[in-house]
Amino acid sequence: MEKKLSTESYKGTRDFYPEDMAIQRYIFETWAKTAELFGFERYDASILEPSELYKSKGAENEEMVREQTYTFIDRGDREVTLRPEMTPTVARMVAGKRRDLNFPVRWYSIPNLFRYERPQRGRLREHWQLNCDMFGVDDISADVEMIALAYNVLKAFGAKDSDFEIRINDRSWLNGIFGDFGLNQDQSKQMLTLLDRKEKITNFDEEAEKICGKPFILDLEEPENGSRLYDVCKGLQEIGIIKNLKVSASTVRGFNYYTSTVFEIFDTSPTNNRSLMGGGRYDNLTGLFGGDPISGMGFGLGDVTMRDFLETHNLLDGKVSITAPTLMVLPIDASQNIEAEKIAMAFRNAHIRTAVDLSDKKIGKKISHADEVGTSYILVVGADETVSQIFTLKTLATKSETKGTISELIASLT
Ligand code: HAM
Repeated sequence: MEKKLSTESYKGTRDFYPEDMAIQRYIFETWAKTAELFGFERYDASILEPSELYKSKGAENEEMVREQTYTFIDRGDREVTLRPEMTPTVARMVAGKRRDLNFPVRWYSIPNLFRYERPQRGRLREHWQLNCDMFGVDDISADVEMIALAYNVLKAFGAKDSDFEIRINDRSWLNGIFGDFGLNQDQSKQMLTLLDRKEKITNFDEEAEKICGKPFILDLEEPENGSRLYDVCKGLQEIGIIKNLKVSASTVRGFNYYTSTVFEIFDTSPTNNRSLMGGGRYDNLTGLFGGDPISGMGFGLGDVTMRDFLETHNLLDGKVSITAPTLMVLPIDASQNIEAEKIAMAFRNAHIRTAVDLSDKKIGKKISHADEVGTSYILVVGADETVSQIFTLKTLATKSETKGTISELIASLT
C-alpha cells in the first residue's frame, strides 16, 4: 500500500482553520482600518519576484538573501524568488510609476512573505506583514508620522503604552560616531551588522575589537540637540508619544537599505522577545531602478508576533468570532433538502446570511446545532410546509415564532 500522506502543513507554515482565520481577519481588518485612518491607500503585487530584485547592492540583506530565500528556476530559465519582504517590491512599483504618482505617496499592503528560517516562537517560514510606507518626504515629519501610525496600530487593538516599547535610532548618527572613532566605511558597515546581532551573541566586545582593530567602547550618549534623531524624538513627544519611546544604540535593523531613522517595537512581556515590527528610512532604494532616488520611510508589522502579543495581553477576549449564518433552514429529512435550498435562495437574494443543514441528524439535533453555532433564526421544512407554503420562522434567543409565506417572513427580517 502507498504511504499515507501527512495532514501536517508544510514546515513553518500554518493552516488557518476557521477559529484561526477569524483571528487573522480581525487583525487584518484592524490593520487596514488604522492605515486608512492615516490616509494610506492599499496596493499589492505577486508573491513571485525576479531574484535579482534582492541581490542588487543596497537592497541586500546578506543573511536573508544567502540563507533564507525560497528561490527556484522556472521553466523559462528565469531565477525566481518568493518575496521575503515587501520593501523592494514597493520601491519597484513606485519607481515604475514615478511620473504619474502624486507625492507624497502613502501606501499600505498586507502581503504574505516567505523566509527559510528555523521555525520558533515568533518566527515562521510564511508570515503576513502590514507594510506602510511613505515616499517623497525627506523631512522628519514623515518619520514622526510613520512611527505615530505604528503606535496607533497597536493602540487600535486596545494595547496600553506599558504593553510595548518603541526603540529608535539613526544609522547616520551611528555612522558619524563610527567615523569619529576612526572607522572606515567598510568597518562601519560591519559594526552595524554586529550591533544588529548584539542581543543574540555573547562575545560582542571581542567581535567589535576584531573589526575596529582596537577595543570598541560603545559610548553612545543621547543624541545632541539639533541632530535628526533628536528632532524626530522631539516631534514624537510633541504629538503625544512619550511614555514608551526609547533611544537604543543597538537598534540598527538588518537591511542595508536603511540610511537614517530606524525603529523597532517590542512587547514588554518577556514571553515575546521577538520584535513586533521594524522599519526605517531608506533614501536610495528607488535609485536601483534609475532616475533620481525618491526617499522612503516605512515599517513592517508581522502577524505572528502580533497574535502572540494580543494573546499575552488578553486583547482578543470578546473581539473575535466566526461569522455564523443569520438563518438556518432545517429540512425534516433528505426528501425536503432541495425545497430547503430553494427557500434558502430566496433569503440569500434578500441579503440574509442563510445556510441549510444537509446532515442526516434528527430535527431536534439540527435545532440544537443551529443554536450552538450562534444562528439567530431557524426555519423547519417538512412535507406539510412544502404543500401549504406557510412556514414558521423561529427566533432562537426568545423562542418566539412568526408564521407566513416566504416573502412575508423575508419582509419580517428586512
Ligand atoms: P523585518 O524586520 O524583517 O522588516 O520584518 C518586520 C516584522 O515582520 C518583524 O518585526 C516581525 O514581526 C515580522 N517578521 C519578520 N520575519 C518573520 C518571520 N520569519 N516570521 C514571523 N514574523 C516575521 C522588513 O521586512 C522590512 N521590509 C520592513 C519595512 C517596511 N521597512 C520599511 N518598510
